[in-house]
Amino acid sequence: MESVRVGLIGWGTVGCGVIRVLEENASAIQARLGFPLELVRVADLDLDSPRPVSVGREKLTTNVRDILEDPHIQIVVELIGGLEPARTFILQALDQGKHVVTANKALLAHHGNELFAHAARRGCCIGFEASVAGGIPLLKSIREGLAANRVDTIFGILNGTGNYILTRMTEEGLGFEEALREAQERGYAEADPTLDVDGIDTAHKLAIAGAMAFGTPIQFDQVYVEGIRHTDPLDVQFASEFGYQLKLLAIGRHVNGQLEMRVHPTLIPSSHVLASVRGAYNAVHLHGNAVGNIMLYGLGAGMMPTGSAVVADMVDIARDLTSGGINRVPPLSFLPERTQDTPV
Ligand code: HSE
Repeated sequence: MESVRVGLIGWGTVGCGVIRVLEENASAIQARLGFPLELVRVADLDLDSPRPVSVGREKLTTNVRDILEDPHIQIVVELIGGLEPARTFILQALDQGKHVVTANKALLAHHGNELFAHAARRGCCIGFEASVAGGIPLLKSIREGLAANRVDTIFGILNGTGNYILTRMTEEGLGFEEALREAQERGYAEADPTLDVDGIDTAHKLAIAGAMAFGTPIQFDQVYVEGIRHTDPLDVQFASEFGYQLKLLAIGRHVNGQLEMRVHPTLIPSSHVLASVRGAYNAVHLHGNAVGNIMLYGLGAGMMPTGSAVVADMVDIARDLTSGGINRVPPLSFLPERTQDTPV
């Protein structure tokens, strides 16, 4: 194979990370694949705002059709976020037989079951590692590393912005608004930061990771959600004095045969390993019935860590393209409409 050609929709913070990872690690990626990943088009409505990463003018377009209808592009990367038009673009890319990589947790939490079923019908793949826990390879660990397990518990910190805010309030006595502003300046927060502070972003991620871990369809409306908006600096400081840290936790577990998924601020003992997770770091604890307890830790937000996860999915898909099979499918339970004849 000469190269795998990629079109990127969305030249924002994560888009810049993807471009930089592809540039800086081009030789390592080519060494792994045996051919390059070639970014041939970048679409965004705004081509003029200053960005930390530049793109050759000849690759830029404001018309997403230049990507969706280019027969030479094999992978479409969706990084515009939000529900629409992202959903429509992904469906159209799949209809054109293109594989898709997305970091869009809100879209997958609400429409993932539909999108994965559509991808299976088209014989295409959706890579979505970057949708949960930024640079941590959490979904690959669940799908591949824990493939031999029944997972009964997943819990942890899945929102970098929320954890950054709570850390700054605890350690520096910052007010909520000031800490949020810092998180925005560092590029951690969602375009609409209420998703971060109200726990909704964490719930999106728990719905996706929980479905992977427990082998169920995505059930975002079953997740109980409470955020950190009303946290007072005094709350976190008193908690700290009494030997506890306030953390926004995502918790998924089986209770009496029922799946329970919830997101809420939680006091945890300062001696617990999750209490030492600071700033934009995420950490996830899983228990599998064969492997026992495992813990994953890393940056859960930001340009380069999230770019790393997006490009990892591109590498996976490119590798599968050369071996003639697309096997990066979610659990079967995501795919109620799959039949024996459906290509995978
Ligand atoms: N706003 C998200 C966070 C970005 O802070 O974790 C990464 O998903």
